[in-house]
Amino acid sequence: GDPFLTLGIETSCDDTAVAVLEGPRRVLAAGLSSQVEDHAPHGGVVPELASRKHQEAILPLLHQVLDRAGIRNPARELHLVAVTSGPGLMGSLLVGVMTAKALSQAWEVPLVSVNHLEGHLFANVVAHGDLKPPFLCLIVSGGHTEILLVRAFGDYQVLGGTRDDAAGEAYDKVAKLLGLGYPGGPVVDRLAATGNPEAFPLPVPLSGSGVVEFSFSGLKTAVLWVLKRLEKDGLPVPVEDLCASFQRAAVASLLEKTRVAVEQTGVRQVALSGGVGANSALRAGLEEEGARRGWRVYLPPRDLCTDNGVMIAAAGYSSFRRGIRCDVTFAPDPSWEL
Ligand code: KG4
Ligand code: ZN
Repeated sequence: GDPFLTLGIETSCDDTAVAVLEGPRRVLAAGLSSQVEDHAPHGGVVPELASRKHQEAILPLLHQVLDRAGIRNPARELHLVAVTSGPGLMGSLLVGVMTAKALSQAWEVPLVSVNHLEGHLFANVVAHGDLKPPFLCLIVSGGHTEILLVRAFGDYQVLGGTRDDAAGEAYDKVAKLLGLGYPGGPVVDRLAATGNPEAFPLPVPLSGSGVVEFSFSGLKTAVLWVLKRLEKDGLPVPVEDLCASFQRAAVASLLEKTRVAVEQTGVRQVALSGGVGANSALRAGLEEEGARRGWRVYLPPRDLCTDNGVMIAAAGYSSFRRGIRCDVTFAPDPSWEL
């Protein structure tokens, strides 16, 4: 019969993203409008600005993506609209959710609401056709640091999360301390590659606690103390070394807690997602751990780790196949827990 086509819409934070997916994992077209340059002067995402930028970007992006997917008559050709309705910024979520509701009503196409974290884990489904539950998924982004046990699609257990800052947030704050701009993750990643990770012995957060729990705010403060000491002693800041030392501790914590999650559950398939999933040290570290300990490690390509519409379409398609439907009365939930 007809190929099943899902339109995915994501506006939970500062990326407007739209995609058309055929079946569970074939990408027909994907588009993204980034607001990085709008927020950079402010050193972080400004919610009101994000909302306004989504409003400007979403319809042109939608038309562009439908066009590239070869869809002339969405009402006839699309089978499903999937949209992120939380967690995220209310003003940002509203733009995607209201657009999706309007399209679903106008086209008479069913609508499903998608949890952003479930979306992130579906990056792995799109990237790896052979991935079957149960598996663990380490989700590390600007807003989240969590390890999920995926018992089945639609059946998730959060094994643990962060007590304070998210991993990406820590990268961004450290970059800010070092005057490297926003967002900091990619820059710190790049500079760390040429630095000495042993230059500054920063503490690995909650190391040895034996629980799946993260904390990154103390690590950020440890970087601040190093900077203050260097300044007091009148020494130059070895930026690469400091980036590498921070990254060593951050990645060591992510790897250690993944190890704990594997021990707790006996599940030896480990997937990665979220913006920090694009980090080269984390990707290399997970591959190494996997090879050493006999895990199967799944790494989506970097553009599926960061926020995108494809993962939302894939998660929505899976929900729909499991019988989930939404009427237009649902509201965005900025703190929707999986
Ligand atoms: O998933 P994402 O695009 O948006 C959220 O849902 O938060 O993640 C964005 C976060 C930012 O904090 C950014 O600095 C971080 O991911 N990030 C990285 C890298 N690329 C993006 N962090 C470390 N290394 C990277 N290569
Ligand atoms: Zn995200």
